[in-house]
Amino acid sequence: MTCVLVALATLCVTTGPTHLAAGDDGRFSPRLGGATTIEDAGAGAFGHMAANAPEARRRDFGLGSRLFAIEWAPYPNAVKIFDGLGPTFNRASCAGCHQANGRGRPPEHAGEPMDSMLVRVTAAAATPDAYGDQINDRAIDDVPPEGQVRIRYDTITGAYGDGTPYTLLRPRIELVDLAYGALDGAAFSPRVAPAIIGLGLLEAVPLATLESLADPDDSDGDGISGRINRLDPAGTAGRFGWKANVADLRHQVAAAAIGDMGLTTSLYPAQNCPPVQAECLAAPAEDGPEIVDSLLARIVTTMRTVAVPARRDANGAETDAGYAAFRRLGCAACHVPTLATDGAAVLPELRDQTFHPFTDLMLHDMGAGLADGRPDHDATGSEWRTPPLWGLGLVPVVSGHDRLLHDGRARGFAEAILWHGGEAEAAREAFRTADRDEREALLAFLGSL
Ligand code: HEC
Ligand code: HEC
Repeated sequence: MTCVLVALATLCVTTGPTHLAAGDDGRFSPRLGGATTIEDAGAGAFGHMAANAPEARRRDFGLGSRLFAIEWAPYPNAVKIFDGLGPTFNRASCAGCHQANGRGRPPEHAGEPMDSMLVRVTAAAATPDAYGDQINDRAIDDVPPEGQVRIRYDTITGAYGDGTPYTLLRPRIELVDLAYGALDGAAFSPRVAPAIIGLGLLEAVPLATLESLADPDDSDGDGISGRINRLDPAGTAGRFGWKANVADLRHQVAAAAIGDMGLTTSLYPAQNCPPVQAECLAAPAEDGPEIVDSLLARIVTTMRTVAVPARRDANGAETDAGYAAFRRLGCAACHVPTLATDGAAVLPELRDQTFHPFTDLMLHDMGAGLADGRPDHDATGSEWRTPPLWGLGLVPVVSGHDRLLHDGRARGFAEAILWHGGEAEAAREAFRTADRDEREALLAFLGSL
């Protein structure tokens, strides 16, 4: 970005660097996913194949979608290709957490199991790493679940610039029934399942674009310093997960399979049993990957080609004013409206697309309020990847709730914004002190995405 003052955010967008076409006046197409976009604002809105995918893709997309929805069984099972669940796991299907390809939420009360989110963990240096990097709260027969996670909330109060009060919920994580001893001093990172629309487009954004969006030392002095999460010594850029902790969809699917369901693949061939977990290690397991490569490839294709729904209420007077507010308040510095793929995307329907995800895919320090204190590759304990905002207005319709942010603490858009801190503190304050009409226009704009 080339701007200095929040008040000049409009200027940044209109004259900004490579991610916006020359002459762009800030307007963008309601077809948020470019030619992949579909028209559906109902409960099935996140379930479609990219509109421009070749008809021949439909078989693989359908098979991948079924594999995503199917409940896997422990080994051995009569239907051999769908066994291998566990020994420990979180859910028996991908769709268990990503229901209707939508978004997870935290439990509503302390006794409700964690059905569509998970908790990553890093043991304190002094304690043995008995749990691996994620708490698996379910297990097959004869193997103990690792433990259960409870979330409680403290209520925080605040007020807008005009005096209107608001409340926020600050979560507290508590682990109970731990099977292998206490986790004193460990760092926990609760994360809800994101919606899985448009991911193939994000995967196909050229690395050069990411590098142009990064500003690690804040050389332009705007208080915002996006960083790429470099995952390995070769400098592979992370794109997926709340901390951009995974490079590509093949690794993401395989990591979800082993970490969330205990299913091995050729990428992660070992069962997910830390050395102290004797019952887990002793559980019967088949030789070779539990998800064979040909099926893994189908799931990856489906993850690449889930369509993005079109925007509703585009060009309404209020949503137009809301987009102006979005730019004026400085939101677009991180939630970059427009990105593009080039001709190198693996699937033809993803090539040369201009699309509107409202993310820069960069890590940003979001301050102490959102920090999980758990580094993830290059990401620090207070950095998060800017999440895309496309489809957010449909979350209540598809997923039946309005919980936002990495751990689902925010009830709706306003609370999500009010939690922004760190590099986004100026934008949050601009929102908090904006007049009511501008705030409401902004929320209407977000609801139209
Ligand atoms: C226990 C709940 C759970 C299950 C089961 C689950 N996921 Fe996820 N999924 C998540 C969470 C939480 C994240 C974010 C992870 C992170 O931040 O590292 C995620 C992230 C993803 C992403 C990346 C989305 C993005 O925007 O970065 C994809 C793709 C994905 N999951 C696919 C799958 C597939 C395929 C399966 C089945 C093999 C699966 N998931 C099973 C909870 C789940
Ligand atoms: C410095 C970069 C930055 C700026 C500026 C910024 N955001 Fe964000 N935004 C983020 C990050 C990073 C997250 C994820 C934080 C988390 O989950 O803990 C986020 C999360 C969100 C979410 C929730 C998304 C989801 O999937 O849960 C919304 C809505 C949002 N931002 C809107 C806005 C608006 C509106 C503004 C302007 C007032 C804004 N943001 C300014 C980086 C930014």
